[in-house]
Amino acid sequence: MRNRLLPKIVVSAWSLAMITMGGLGQFLAPDVTQAAEIAADCASCHEQSVASFKSSYHGKAWKGANGCQACHGQTNQHLDTEQSKKTIFSFAKDGGRSAKERAAQCLSCHSSSKHVAFWETSKHKSAGLSCDSCHTGHSNLSKNLKMPQTELCFSCHRDIRSESNRQSHHPIKEGKVSCSDCHDPHGGFGTKMIKADSINELCYNCHAEKRGPFMYEHPPVEENCMTCHSAHGSNHNKLMAQKVPNICQSCHDWSRHPGTPYTQANSFVSSAPAGRGGVARSCQNCHTTIHGSNGPNTLGLRYVK
Ligand code: HEC
Ligand code: HEC
Ligand code: HEC
Ligand code: HEC
Ligand code: HEC
Ligand code: HEC
Ligand code: HEC
Ligand code: HEC
Ligand code: HEC
Ligand code: HEC
Repeated sequence: MRNRLLPKIVVSAWSLAMITMGGLGQFLAPDVTQAAEIAADCASCHEQSVASFKSSYHGKAWKGANGCQACHGQTNQHLDTEQSKKTIFSFAKDGGRSAKERAAQCLSCHSSSKHVAFWETSKHKSAGLSCDSCHTGHSNLSKNLKMPQTELCFSCHRDIRSESNRQSHHPIKEGKVSCSDCHDPHGGFGTKMIKADSINELCYNCHAEKRGPFMYEHPPVEENCMTCHSAHGSNHNKLMAQKVPNICQSCHDWSRHPGTPYTQANSFVSSAPAGRGGVARSCQNCHTTIHGSNGPNTLGLRYVK
């Protein structure tokens, strides 16, 4: 009988070697023959799992080496005495392993990866999730995800799904932007696990023209894009958090603006000075450079040009 403890020791030495070598790209193969034999042992009862592992990213990257024990732990007892979820490392809900223990299986190799560097502080970890809430060792989808990313995130975040279906939305379901363009599900420095130090920095990554510098800045814009916009979706045009002009009026009183104050009954359609009437509700029709302006003198100052 061959020694079934050996592969696990090889794995640990391997992980250690990878960490000291500073990255996972450096692949030090454990005993390929032995791993293949182990997998063959499992195939007699878990044919599908062996096949799906082989076609998974790990299965391919490891070129048949290593195998089941890297994630499912020691196999002796499971093979020799009793076949149950308790005699092997199972990720199942009733497998008796805590989220922390499950994550540790993956982190034994991935803890040095910059992608999971903030896992310990992530909201997903504190909410009781583990790596296997989103990943599996048996998927041929990109990044070993259990299902395509958008579907995966929506499966728990139903509120975000409904926001993304609103009239104006970031093109997430159209596949042009993905959740992970803006968030790191493994955590990070930013608020709400966003992939930037601040919300504005995140937005500038794709909307660089909003960064300026502007001669005339509009203070709420520099402060936080979310003052006026929603991140995922809105029932108002251009992802506005509230309707224009209401949102403008929430900060601007009308004492100095030409024309009578806007109310439901009386917009400045009727009484505004020549050239300023008729546009009514759409402040941005005249104030076209609401994000900041380099226009000349008062036209710039008032974001009209
Ligand atoms: C003789 C049949 C047999 C062999 C051989 C066998 N298993 Fe199992 N395995 C089982 C049974 C039975 C269960 C319990 C299934 C259950 O409770 O739903 C199980 C459970 C598991 C589970 C937990 C399943 C879950 O739902 O989480 C894993 C993981 C597993 N086996 C891996 C392996 C690996 C790896 C090998 C090879 C080293 C192996 N098994 C070899 C029969 C076998
Ligand atoms: C990279 C880690 C990893 C490797 C390597 C791995 N598995 Fe798994 N396996 C998992 C995870 C994670 C799950 C839980 C999947 C889930 O929750 O949907 C799982 C689930 C299973 C299950 C339960 C049935 C299922 O599909 O949910 C069996 C049986 C199993 N693995 C057997 C094996 C066998 C046999 C091998 C070797 C050929 C192997 N695994 C290699 C991570 C791995
Ligand atoms: C909430 C879901 C979720 C959880 C929990 C999660 N991941 Fe991920 N992970 C993802 C998604 C989505 C991607 C793909 C990101 C992308 O494509 O930019 C990913 C990518 C990765 C990558 C590849 C990074 C790259 O860019 O190549 C690794 C490695 C990884 N995850 C490991 C882990 C480990 C280890 C854990 C547990 C400590 C974990 N993940 C927990 C969703 C998750
Ligand atoms: C024995 C070490 C080891 C273990 C255990 C391990 N991985 Fe990996 N993983 C690797 C290696 C090596 C790569 C390839 C890295 C590379 O290409 O740079 C990889 C790649 C990945 C990737 C990137 C896939 C892609 O498409 O780019 C993800 C995601 C990942 N692992 C998640 C996990 C999860 C989740 C677990 C636990 C269920 C896990 N790994 C367990 C060694 C391991
Ligand atoms: C264009 C960037 C962007 C994309 C794409 C994006 N988000 Fe967000 N998300 C944000 C920003 C910014 C916040 C913070 C909003 C705030 O603080 O008002 C946020 C907040 C969240 C929150 C916290 C909500 C709350 O009320 O606390 C969740 C959950 C979330 N996003 C999930 C998702 C999911 C799931 C996807 C993909 C379907 C996704 N996001 C796509 C930028 C984005
Ligand atoms: C298995 C369920 C599950 C999946 C899958 C999942 N999440 Fe979460 N997510 C949670 C829970 C639980 C919380 C914490 C409670 C809350 O804030 O809603 C959370 C919180 C968040 C937050 C808010 C973080 C904060 O600081 O408040 C963001 C952003 C987020 N998830 C994004 C994502 C993205 C992006 C994906 C897909 C890659 C994803 N989630 C997949 C369950 C999940
Ligand atoms: C990963 C890239 C990316 C990031 C980051 C990003 N956006 Fe976008 N944004 C887009 C794309 C793509 C569109 C759609 C453009 C199109 O259809 O022409 C868009 C459209 C918009 C629109 C117009 C929506 C409409 O209905 O026409 C607004 C407003 C917007 N983004 C605001 C923001 C804000 C605020 C942030 C920061 C929270 C942000 N974006 C972050 C890519 C991004
Ligand atoms: C003071 C409110 C306000 C703030 C703050 C604000 N915006 Fe806007 N944004 C608007 C208005 C008003 C529109 C035009 C709406 C319309 O045409 O219906 C708009 C439209 C947009 C558009 C789509 C049209 C275009 O100009 O490309 C993008 C993208 C955008 N904003 C990004 C941002 C970003 C990024 C930030 C943060 C740096 C930001 N906004 C902050 C009010 C604001
Ligand atoms: C969160 C508050 C806030 C919101 C919302 C807001 N603004 Fe402003 N706005 C300011 C502040 C602060 C200034 C700086 C001028 C000042 O000190 O009075 C300013 C300046 C201006 C100016 C130049 C005024 C001057 O006296 O030079 C115009 C024009 C303007 N905003 C139009 C708008 C329009 C149009 C909207 C709606 C799309 C809007 N603002 C939304 C806070 C806001
Ligand atoms: C028909 C064009 C037009 C529309 C519509 C319009 N404005 Fe103006 N607004 C102007 C012009 C032009 C100025 C500059 C007046 C000056 O420099 O003397 C101005 C000035 C301002 C000022 C600076 C203070 C002042 O009285 O000089 C604020 C604040 C302002 N507008 C907010 C708004 C808001 C909020 C809306 C939407 C409810 C709006 N404007 C709609 C043309 C317009």
